[in-house]
Amino acid sequence: MAAYSGELLSKIATGDGHGENSSYFDGWKAYDMNPFDLDHNRDGVIQMGLAENQLSLDMIEEWSLNHPEASICTPQGASQFRRIANFQDYHGLPEFRKGMAKFMEQVRGGKVTFDPDRIVMCGGATGAQDTLAFCLADPGDAYLVPTPYYPAFDRDCCWRSGIKLLPIECHSSNNFALTREALVSAYDGARSQGIRVKGILITNPSNPLGTVLSRGTLAMLAEFATERRVHLICDEIYAGSVFAKPDFVSIAEVVERDDPGCNRDLVHIAYSLSKDFGLPGFRVGIVYSYNDAVVACARKMSSFGLASSQTQFFLARMLSDHEFMARFLAESARRLAARHERFTSGLREVGIGCLDGNAGLFSWMDLRGMLREKTPEAELELWRVIVHEMKLNVSPGTSFHCDEPGWFRVCHANMDDETMEIALARIHDFVRRQQKQQQKAKAKAKRWAARGPLHLSLPRGGGAAASYLALSSPLALMSPHSPMVHAS
Ligand SMILES: Cc1ncc(COP(=O)(O)O)c(C=O)c1O
Repeated sequence: MAAYSGELLSKIATGDGHGENSSYFDGWKAYDMNPFDLDHNRDGVIQMGLAENQLSLDMIEEWSLNHPEASICTPQGASQFRRIANFQDYHGLPEFRKGMAKFMEQVRGGKVTFDPDRIVMCGGATGAQDTLAFCLADPGDAYLVPTPYYPAFDRDCCWRSGIKLLPIECHSSNNFALTREALVSAYDGARSQGIRVKGILITNPSNPLGTVLSRGTLAMLAEFATERRVHLICDEIYAGSVFAKPDFVSIAEVVERDDPGCNRDLVHIAYSLSKDFGLPGFRVGIVYSYNDAVVACARKMSSFGLASSQTQFFLARMLSDHEFMARFLAESARRLAARHERFTSGLREVGIGCLDGNAGLFSWMDLRGMLREKTPEAELELWRVIVHEMKLNVSPGTSFHCDEPGWFRVCHANMDDETMEIALARIHDFVRRQQKQQQKAKAKAKRWAARGPLHLSLPRGGGAAASYLALSSPLALMSPHSPMVHAS
């Protein structure tokens, strides 16, 4: 304990800016203690809190087997071993940056071009956000972020830089659209508290919503950023994981084609290969900035988070194989679409809806009707039931700073078909048990009612009547052991 005392370590190290105290990470702990395994632990917790794309890794494995020259540890690639092992220029391998720029163009349908010299390497998109915050803002400054947003931004953007994230409140009433009114209100709110706003941070496509921002919204953001001289930081980590209409529009398109009046010095993109390729372990992320000074500064920092030259060497070859990349992107989108359709239609069968999504590795599931009451506490009660009884580690909306209780992010691309079917079956089973329970409670309440009005106020601990009241919503699906049933 003493080793963590504020006296020995820095304030930053001993503070809780890492965000691991959030419920988002609690779910992970439950999973870690009892992880589901198809062969060895079918009763364990299924990990649905991990936005990881495991659906198309077979294609990358096959490519790597067919291209032994892309590895410096094979007879075909070993002639490059010394050059790559000694490489330590923090600009990154030129062929890697070229391959990455071409791939980013390909993902955006060839509508924009990217300059390899503006690509700065970082340790994943996580490192990219840390780098950008370092370059763009001082401690105490703020970014505005539309809610709900990816929980680890609190760590990635704030922990080392000391900046704050302030919410731009978005609501389900308009499918969580980001409006100028909400943006202005957040901006003015910050200013009235004397907080300097240095940036707007968006994730497009959104994690957790699984939706894309419209061209109009992006233009509005670029215009606002230009007007107020604040940075526009666009996390486009799911750019290649859009599987249905509407098409993805990158901020690069708005900057380069639509809105020549926008101040490009304020626009920065964070990207990584963690999601679209399912390669989070490679830790390959980048900052693409239109601002020369940011590129120069970020590059000086990149030796803190440069991906290994061996990884760059491999990826340079794969990303430059345009025929493979086109096939991969098309097939990955097809598989993501099929998974999304199967999972969301399976939920619909038991009356559970999701926000209409067309991107990402997850769905934004609407369980508002299951809450005992519309409070964050009730959401967390329901979440505990889902984790401990259904044994599904999903993520509660509160951990994404969603101010409307009852939404949950559920990831479904990080597992095989059979595991996903087991997860769905658990949800079906749970809902059906609750429906039965609900019918029983209703029948019991009816019997009490039939005894006449006096009996309705029987002081029996509120038992059946309390359950009936709690269960009266058509979607109030609670477990016999649920804290929601016991809570009065
Ligand atoms: C929106 C968003 N940005 C960044 C990251 C982190 O990505 P990386 O593994 O490249 O650091 C994630 C991971 O879930 C994410 O969803």
